Amino acid sequence: MTVPLAERYRDRLPLAPGMHVVTLGEGSTPLLPAPRLSARIGADVWLKWEGANPTGSFKDRGMTVAVTQALADGARAVVCASTGNTAASAAAYAARAGLEAVILQPEGGVARGKLAQVRAVGAKVETRTNFEEALEEAKALEAQGTHVLVNSLNPLRLQGQKTAAFEIVEELGGTPDVLALPYGGGGNLCAYAVGFGELGSLPRFVAAQAENRAGTAASAIRIVEPAHAAEVDRALAESGGEIISMTDEAILDAWRLLAHDEGLFCEPSSAAGLAALLADPPKGARAVCVITGHGLKDPDVVA
Ligand code: F0G
Repeated sequence: MTVPLAERYRDRLPLAPGMHVVTLGEGSTPLLPAPRLSARIGADVWLKWEGANPTGSFKDRGMTVAVTQALADGARAVVCASTGNTAASAAAYAARAGLEAVILQPEGGVARGKLAQVRAVGAKVETRTNFEEALEEAKALEAQGTHVLVNSLNPLRLQGQKTAAFEIVEELGGTPDVLALPYGGGGNLCAYAVGFGELGSLPRFVAAQAENRAGTAASAIRIVEPAHAAEVDRALAESGGEIISMTDEAILDAWRLLAHDEGLFCEPSSAAGLAALLADPPKGARAVCVITGHGLKDPDVVA
């Protein structure tokens, strides 16, 4: 069995000894060389394949830690606002823990595979006008004391997600020059900054956001107000990194290329980091591209 990340990195996570870990076998995901993309970009490109997590996205890394703590604290229910992947992960880990999950999702933008995942494990789903409104309500439920918030505002989420940086450094034998990833709310970039920071050196972060945040086809990152904007700016300043805004066309071109060149089928938002590397190639660098979610989550985009 895959060693759960909460066991693999127990000494670097804020979990008390002896806690029952709520796990579905997350983490320890493949770091794949990408020879054709490397040739195209003129860099040594690696793909951190986070679609290989149990619910098909990187969210599982943080969810195992957040739900483990919620269960230990005697919680009955968790809540999140989500464009779909946090929802699928929260719903699955809540089911695993025997907790209720309440999902607040934006109207119309959630990919079909993610909806199916949430319904399959019996979570309670409600729809709000947009992500920002859903998040406000999730925070209000937490303030009532009835639900534990498992959005990335819960610091345990980022603690779990930072382990992806540990895995990359262990496999490459050092910090990559560049780490490119999609930028939605910014929690994931912050988690990588914490993880690499704990190991002593940051890669140059390339944060790829949708040029049209409010209406992008990359529905996972359809977020107008990134909750972690200030921390993202700090991590970019510290690492010499930058935010790159990508058109949907460029994101979908990269998504297609990833599938055709390397055989990796991801959801569109997950290709945003690669799109940024194609737009501004880091010649000669060793670059890791975080491929955040599985293509099966959003089958309609293939048509
Ligand atoms: N990639 C995927 C597949 C995502 O689902 C998300 C965010 C991101 C990238 C961006 O990560 O927000 O940490 O900057 N999905 C959230 C959700 C918003 O509700 O599932 P971020």
